[in-house]
Amino acid sequence: MKIRKASKSDAKACLQVFKLDKEKYWKLKDFEDAAAHKDSIFLVAEEDNKVVGYVIGYIVPTRKIEAALHETRVDKRERGKHIGAKLVDAFCREAFRRGVKSVFALIEPELAGFYCTKCKFRKTGKWIEVTKIEK
Ligand SMILES: CC(C)(COP(=O)(O)OP(=O)(O)OC[C@H]1O[C@@H](n2cnc3c(N)ncnc32)[C@H](O)[C@@H]1OP(=O)(O)O)[C@@H](O)C(=O)NCCC(=O)NCCS
Repeated sequence: MKIRKASKSDAKACLQVFKLDKEKYWKLKDFEDAAAHKDSIFLVAEEDNKVVGYVIGYIVPTRKIEAALHETRVDKRERGKHIGAKLVDAFCREAFRRGVKSVFALIEPELAGFYCTKCKFRKTGKWIEVTKIEK
């Protein structure tokens, strides 16, 4: 398994991995744009030339010592092989290499075991998420 920077041509494969989970959040253009954006960190895990997972996020443009890990996702047929943990580790290493001092993520509670126990993130308990939707 190899982890490498994503390119625009990986967008379709990432969307497929995402759609296997019957999710609706990402569009093809999101992945394409992320691959080209200077502040994004977008990596794919590849096995036998096939994308089996991705991690996507960004260096906060208004505070470049912080990065947000937006999502880690592994092809549902390939889970439990430590691909997800390796993607998160590669994301953090790339962020730190680019001058970031802390990586944060908004996660679903059931993923706390993965991020906190396995990937060594720490719950800060400092923030709550609030959203305003355009009417
Ligand atoms: C979360 C996800 C990325 C983990 O990927 P994965 O490749 O299956 O995970 P890994 O094999 O690297 O897991 C590493 C360790 O974490 C554990 N782990 C994985 N998912 C876990 C979870 N939800 N809760 C607790 N522990 C978990 C594994 O058992 C493994 O433990 P081990 O080291 O004792 O064997 C994957 O389940 C996924 O794509 N989920 C759906 C997408 C999603 O919800 N992403 C999060 C949005 S940010």
